[in-house]
Amino acid sequence: MKKTVKDNRIVEDFSTANHDLCRDAILGFCESPLFSDNEHRYEEAYFGRRLRPHVVKHLNFTKPALPSELANYTAFAANRILFTMNEVDFLMMPSGKIDTTAFSKRYSDEKIAQAYLGMPYLEKYLFSFLDDEIVLSSNWTMRTVKEYFSNFCIEARRLDTLPSAEAIVNAKQPATAARDWLVQLAPDFLIESSPMARYASGNYGALSSSLFKIIIDELGYGEYKRKHSTLFEETMKSAGLDPEPHKYWQYYLNGSLMLANYYNRITRNRRNIFRYIGAIFLAETGFIRSCAIWRDALKSAIPELDVRYFDEHCHIDIDHSRMAFDSLVRPSIEKYGQFAANEIVRGFEEARWISEFAENDFVEQIRWKEEAEENTLKYRKIWPKVQAAYEAGSLTRVLLDEPRGELSITHSHDGDELCHVTSGEMEFLNGFQLSSTLKDDDGIIIRHHRLHGALIHSENCKYEIYTIGDVSKWL
Ligand SMILES: [Fe+2]
Ligand SMILES: [Fe+2]
Ligand SMILES: [Fe+2]
Repeated sequence: MKKTVKDNRIVEDFSTANHDLCRDAILGFCESPLFSDNEHRYEEAYFGRRLRPHVVKHLNFTKPALPSELANYTAFAANRILFTMNEVDFLMMPSGKIDTTAFSKRYSDEKIAQAYLGMPYLEKYLFSFLDDEIVLSSNWTMRTVKEYFSNFCIEARRLDTLPSAEAIVNAKQPATAARDWLVQLAPDFLIESSPMARYASGNYGALSSSLFKIIIDELGYGEYKRKHSTLFEETMKSAGLDPEPHKYWQYYLNGSLMLANYYNRITRNRRNIFRYIGAIFLAETGFIRSCAIWRDALKSAIPELDVRYFDEHCHIDIDHSRMAFDSLVRPSIEKYGQFAANEIVRGFEEARWISEFAENDFVEQIRWKEEAEENTLKYRKIWPKVQAAYEAGSLTRVLLDEPRGELSITHSHDGDELCHVTSGEMEFLNGFQLSSTLKDDDGIIIRHHRLHGALIHSENCKYEIYTIGDVSKWL
């Protein structure tokens, strides 16, 4: 019976179909003081990532999310956990003193094992929709890919603005919006090329050397000062931001994390090499103009901004885009034919879809922050009606009583909510660097899917949360 490998085992199935196993791995991973709630609005622990672990057991990742569900809290939580899990592959060390206990815990064998069970499972939950969303004709060839991609190059070169840049320039406080955008770029840029460098290993012919050329550029040819992530750290510093990864963890939006997670997905599992090549062609090509547009918008909002990161990309990505086509896309299709061609186009389209999703999340968040005052006025207007509806038994509410210093870690809701402060003082966090003070008998409407939190400033604060569904039906 040499063919029988399996003995009686407790776990037979290590695939993502084993929901119980994957769920246990996720819950086990999340259980750590490094990930649980605390009172700091910015991350104080170098290895800390607040995951709101007490909520995770109530979330259901078993059925893949539909595109319409990607902005829901379950997807947001999945993106936070998945990003944190991916970090087991990347070495992070603080510039100052290191907490060796936290360091050992963050990279413990147990956390790595849990992460490697949890990651494909969360990816299945988050990214399966792409299979239905992006339907390709199955006959891509060298000629059609070339034509499609050169059209994209022409289109990309003509680009003169972006929704994110518009949101910054037109904001009431452009400098805050600009800093918020830098924060949204941070999950990717502060470890720039780390996902890509996963492809530095292996034995896969000339493609590996071509990709390595791009990796070397990203790493500044071994010069720390020129490394792209170092340039971005300088940008952050010049904007008055702390460049430590991931200091502003609690302000990373769902979309920003999802985009980083997508690139992790197509680099961690190396069978995605061709999708990655499609995605990298998109990124390198799109970046040439995007970086110029962002630079100009950011600079107009923060005149003293160090924009070398953006200048560098306007210039070097002209080379990278050409290299991505001539030394990655073309030879892949020449050697591996239609399989490679289809995967390349798929990776290109998937990355484009998710980039747009991420950018739109930022635009919506800025819009929500711009409406901060309006949302307190809307609260005033509908509060009597909401109260009456509650008394009539047609609404649910949660009563809270929290002590000074208590922080509700940033999160989002799937429907609109009304927050009413009965007594005490709360700093309602509308998002990155924007707060509204709410005292006795103040309140605010919390728009669904928008990142927010709260910090208590009085000895005690009593407040009530009403789930009101769609706010427009109350106005
Ligand atoms: Fe770069
Ligand atoms: Fe590049
Ligand atoms: Fe909330």
